[in-house]
Amino acid sequence: MAAPGFIIAALVFSCLAANSCAVTFSSLPNNLIVSASTKQGQVLKAGEDKITITWSLNTSLPAGTDSSYHMVEVKLCYAPISQQDRAWRRTEDDLTRDKTCQHKIVTRPYSRSNNTFTWTVQKDVPTATYFIRAYVQNSHDEECAYGQTTDSHKATNLFDVQAISGRHASLDIASVCFSAFSIVSLFGFFFMEKRKAKSSQQK
Ligand SMILES: *[C@@H]1O[C@H](CO)[C@@H](O)[C@H](O)[C@H]1NC(C)=O
Ligand SMILES: *[C@@H]1O[C@H](CO)[C@@H](O)[C@H](O)[C@H]1NC(C)=O
Repeated sequence: MAAPGFIIAALVFSCLAANSCAVTFSSLPNNLIVSASTKQGQVLKAGEDKITITWSLNTSLPAGTDSSYHMVEVKLCYAPISQQDRAWRRTEDDLTRDKTCQHKIVTRPYSRSNNTFTWTVQKDVPTATYFIRAYVQNSHDEECAYGQTTDSHKATNLFDVQAISGRHASLDIASVCFSAFSIVSLFGFFFMEKRKAKSSQQK
């Protein structure tokens, strides 16, 4: 029991540590304009093809909108076309639990304009349909705004990545995190019930 318990605890901890700030996605303003060199339906090869991404502040916003903006984190986000209306395809409103944007592309200090980055699609990106989203963070690593290459329904400007080995994004870290959580909560519940039963017997 000790060894599996430790592994589960370590897993849960690493899941929590990887996602330490709590904001809701629906409260974030779409203040960044993000674009990519990819075309709708384009197929890119993992480990080979490149994407050039540009981002800047929407210049029609009032002055001072970006006064707390500190860093920009650009991410590759998952949006399988065939699953368009499934709940799990949506961005989890609690960003600490979101599973749709797991591939970090680059983190850069915030700058209002002229931001560009050319990324070679990493070898470990699974075959799926994607778009690009950038989150702006303040100096406490909290998300303040975002921008993305697709519309709010994740229907436009999607591109595909073809993995080298034919890997599919069916089992990702997030689902491992999720099942570890369930196991831990189950065990926790079981032990608490046992304790309760014991203490009520002693009375
Ligand atoms: C920029 O911001 C203005 C004002 O909020 C908004 O009306 C406009 O649609 C935005 N432009 C883009 C490209 O998002
Ligand atoms: C962005 O680049 C253009 C052309 O290179 C330059 O004129 C402009 O001043 C730059 N803007 C900022 C905010 O650096």
